[in-house]
Amino acid sequence: MTFNAAHLLGIEHLHPTEITTLLDLADTYANDNRAGIAHKDVLAGLTQVNMFFENSTRTQSSFELAGKRLGADVMNMSMATSSVKKGETLIDTALTLNAMHPDLLVVRHGSSGAVDLLAQKVNCAVLNAGDGRHEHPTQALLDALTIRRAKGRLHRLNIAICGDIAHSRVARSNILLLGKMENRIRLIAPPTLMPSGVQEFGVEVYDDMREGLKDVDVVMMLRLQKERMDGGFIPSEREYFHRFGLDAEKFAYAKEDAIVMHPGPMNRGVEIDGTIADDINHSVIQTQVEMGVAVRMAAMDLLARNLRARRAAEQQDTMV
Ligand code: NCD
Repeated sequence: MTFNAAHLLGIEHLHPTEITTLLDLADTYANDNRAGIAHKDVLAGLTQVNMFFENSTRTQSSFELAGKRLGADVMNMSMATSSVKKGETLIDTALTLNAMHPDLLVVRHGSSGAVDLLAQKVNCAVLNAGDGRHEHPTQALLDALTIRRAKGRLHRLNIAICGDIAHSRVARSNILLLGKMENRIRLIAPPTLMPSGVQEFGVEVYDDMREGLKDVDVVMMLRLQKERMDGGFIPSEREYFHRFGLDAEKFAYAKEDAIVMHPGPMNRGVEIDGTIADDINHSVIQTQVEMGVAVRMAAMDLLARNLRARRAAEQQDTMV
């Protein structure tokens, strides 16, 4: 097994073999989930704490379900009503939590880098469930598994990532992962939603959907992240849909067997036409949700193995 990390903070520091190890394990979990085969022993005796400082429905429930399927005791801390609102710092919250001895800590936070900082202060395995505009590693991994299952491979594919790239941690983690696996990545966005320094990403850049989508295998749409915008990024939602929204006419430029992806939540009629999103011949949006549980099971399984090994080694040390 090649997966030696203590935390899953991002895709940036993962080696391609670690990504493959994780996806292979997730693949078996996905099959077992479909077959109703339980694995309650994997995280038995471990405590998983979900700390979501930002609202989330699918990611939080996906992590919760993944932990429960593997037999962990799962606790959701409601950060909206927590002491954070009373002025407690992130570090104080972390130290308080650490004193309760959790084993797996799943964190979502609005600030880039907050999860890395937290990981330095606690004794458990930390999983980043999205930090600011920085990374969202389990989303990129579930996207990769979805692509691999649909296309039969995860290399040498033409993949278009479209829309609000500037504000998107999903795009960042996906660019890193898909690049490491040697795919050709195209970014399609209006210049105002393209991140600065994009030239260094090793991608092709387009501001026209029809040109960018030509002959791609995968079309990954992104939500317009209105909550991260301070105005002036797009003229109007109608105009944005007209130029950058995925509809049947624009999608026809992609390969005939191209797949459509979206991390959710979707703004129908803004970045994607509802009919395309629901087209069972091309859309894999529901599969992404399904793979999300399997990928999170695999990530927590691998981190728990490393955590147990580390703790066993520490005990050995104290006994000598
Ligand atoms: C993404 C996120 O939170 O970064 N959503 C998710 O994890 N399901 C993308 C988004 O919010 O648009």
